[in-house]
Amino acid sequence: MSVTERLAEIADIGRDADRGGYSRHLFDATDASLRDWFRRSASALGLAVEEDGDANLWAWWGAPGDGAVATGSHLDSVPGGGAYDGPLGIAAAFEAVAQLQAEGFTPARPVAVCAFAEEEGSRFGLPCLGTRLLTGAVEPAAALVRADAAGLTLEDAWRASGRDVAAVGPDPDRVARLAAFIELHVEQGRDLEDRGIPVSTASAIIPHGRWRLEITGEGNHAGTTTMDQRADPVVAAARAVLAVQEAARARPPARGTIGKVQVVPGGTNVIASRVVAWLDLRADHDEDVRALFDAVLAGARAGVEAEGCTLVVHEESFTSRVDFDAALTARVAAALRPGFGAVPSIPTGAGHDAGILSSVVPTAMLFVRNPTGVSHAPGEGARDEDCEAGARALAATLRGLAGAA
Ligand code: HGY
Ligand code: MN
Ligand code: MN
Repeated sequence: MSVTERLAEIADIGRDADRGGYSRHLFDATDASLRDWFRRSASALGLAVEEDGDANLWAWWGAPGDGAVATGSHLDSVPGGGAYDGPLGIAAAFEAVAQLQAEGFTPARPVAVCAFAEEEGSRFGLPCLGTRLLTGAVEPAAALVRADAAGLTLEDAWRASGRDVAAVGPDPDRVARLAAFIELHVEQGRDLEDRGIPVSTASAIIPHGRWRLEITGEGNHAGTTTMDQRADPVVAAARAVLAVQEAARARPPARGTIGKVQVVPGGTNVIASRVVAWLDLRADHDEDVRALFDAVLAGARAGVEAEGCTLVVHEESFTSRVDFDAALTARVAAALRPGFGAVPSIPTGAGHDAGILSSVVPTAMLFVRNPTGVSHAPGEGARDEDCEAGARALAATLRGLAGAA
């Protein structure tokens, strides 16, 4: 097979006709279909599949055991996401195993292909949910009370999926088996395209935080309420959005985004009573994100209060900066040298499961060139030949890391 053919097998799962791209979220119908694909792909390679207590899938080449080398990514997407963010890392992992098996390679260590649950946090608001639970980065109780847009808690959704809520939580024995984790991912930017090279390693993931802003005003009639009588939370939210833009622009290369807004009640002829807006902030270091948040909060609060509204802010997640394991990254680069020459190591502004796992196991990443540089949108791209190059790079990496006990 090829990576492209493997991705084609899931190309029709979770297409979003309204937004374009894909909408694939934890425990929805697409999740079940994608998990079935994962199991079929693994079985075809003779890999034994298990699901851990946190809904993460593990396909084992060789009996699970100490010194394991794991690789993989996620199958879920953002709303209207691209075809490669997540699935490319899993399709390339299966293809790398297939190539190694075809050449007669027998790993001296257990090798696992993984699919981690809810990396995007699109349904329950916590990115990298599966790896945060697995590593103990989030307490099960704190995760299980989180609710989706319909108000269904993670606990309820977990039970409804037929899974055991009591099994949710850290799995130190499983984590202790791992000697290394490698995640291959489509680049979410144009660095490799601008450099004219197909693959690279990753040096760092910049930190990011997510907050929920609740802006309360006074609901009223759009036609009978004069402009001097209003406390309009939508106008207040607009001021808050501009405060985010101003604060982030003043602190390059920081990034500030409000990409999700809910207006209550949401009537054309109604002045809203409440607006909920979600804030995503990123910057080079943790303290920069915190400083950016303080500036955003001051600007947003001033704007909200100028409209006679109130603002309550909840921190939903904070993910610290990750600098990947230099020794492992160097080993990966050495494995790539024969086939790819000297590859660069580039930072990313996107979070990954590899970032969460880096707190408990040496991790490294491989990026595959994205000609558009676009991600988290239907325009996300990767050339077929670069996807295949990614699988060859991952095969070389696994050969190097798992070739000796
Ligand atoms: O939001 C992120 O950076 C990642 O794609 N979850
Ligand atoms: Mn991703
Ligand atoms: Mn993503």
